[in-house]
Amino acid sequence: MTARPDPAEIEARLGRVLDPELRVSITELGMVKGVRVGDDGTVVVEVALTTLGCPLRAEIRAEVAAAARTVPGVRDVEVRYAEMTPEQRSALMARARKAAQDRAPATEVPARTRVLAIASGKGGVGKSSVTVNLAVALARRGHVVGLLDADIWGFSVPRMLGIGGRLRGEDGKIVPHELPVPPGRLVVTSMGFLVDDETTALMWRGLILTKALEQFLTDVRWGDLDYLLIDMPPGTGDLQMGLARLMPRAELVVVTTPARAAQKVAARVADMARRSHLGVLGVIENMSELVLDDGRRLALFGSGGGEELAEELRVPLLARIPIAPEVAYGGDEGRPVAGHDPDGPAGRAFTALAERLAVDLAPPVQMAGCTARLAALFDVGA
Ligand SMILES: Nc1ncnc2c1ncn2[C@@H]1O[C@H](COP(=O)(O)OP(=O)(O)O)[C@@H](O)[C@H]1O
Ligand SMILES: [Mg+2]
Repeated sequence: MTARPDPAEIEARLGRVLDPELRVSITELGMVKGVRVGDDGTVVVEVALTTLGCPLRAEIRAEVAAAARTVPGVRDVEVRYAEMTPEQRSALMARARKAAQDRAPATEVPARTRVLAIASGKGGVGKSSVTVNLAVALARRGHVVGLLDADIWGFSVPRMLGIGGRLRGEDGKIVPHELPVPPGRLVVTSMGFLVDDETTALMWRGLILTKALEQFLTDVRWGDLDYLLIDMPPGTGDLQMGLARLMPRAELVVVTTPARAAQKVAARVADMARRSHLGVLGVIENMSELVLDDGRRLALFGSGGGEELAEELRVPLLARIPIAPEVAYGGDEGRPVAGHDPDGPAGRAFTALAERLAVDLAPPVQMAGCTARLAALFDVGA
């Protein structure tokens, strides 16, 4: 005859259940609203979800039930769902952020470094071109800029910068490549400096991908950076979550084309931001228009997509980078346009973008404002 199970003990066991998305204990997140034990050993657990339509609720229920059953005397477990209020959701996000900060392994990136993750809903929008040229433009302002090519299986930063060669190790740390861009410099890592060919890179998946990002952040001797730009792989998913855990202060910059398919991309990016709890700094529209020699402009890929996405996400449109052949061949030849043709239409746009980030948007996003904005995104994404 076992004693009637103790609700406090059940709650303690529930503390080991992690939210499948946030990887933080559901009790720590305030999701367990009540534990009741009946005379016959039946347990009722009330779980508050961010939204009742949460696709992961079956998973949460199974884990809650399994954890509760590990307490002697527990017979049946019933899980009841409740929906969080907007205030509770904001509180949950604040807790998730705090937990991520407390748990993240120490990175080699100095606390003062501004971390910008350049992301896009899909590939081919010019994310890497934008990342590389923004890095060059910031260095030309005199900054020391780290460039982390986190597009593990589609890395293109080595080619775009025209640098190669294996990274070397020193005292258990990886020494990144350095590239002077007077009066500043670039400090660069890429999977392209670690693997022999792209086929090897293709084998990297899922958790290993996150592990690679973690290694890039914790094992690379970055030095004293002003900025760290991260070229994220296209799409949503694991890596954004991993980044949020490792560097909760990172801000997302979303690259899009002017095509008005922005709605879909917006929804995906909003969802990505919601799931990863990263703040969104703004949108960059790339391939905006083709500027002809006589000054005429052709909107080859449509127009308005950047503005639409920025509005949808309630963040500023940071720049519109024109279509320019020199962006493409500069990338192919390892001579980024922001350094080699700073006075052309694309070069000027990158210089202005760097200026805007360094001057107008200098202070990091406030935590409170960021959380409030994410709460808004949450409603968009849900
Ligand atoms: N503003 C631009 N003008 C002209 N070509 C561009 C521009 N931005 C990117 N490209 C070209 O488009 C292709 C995709 O760009 P890339 O930066 O590799 O995209 P992503 O990293 O999003 O996959 C490349 O060939 C690149 O040179
Ligand atoms: Mg790319």
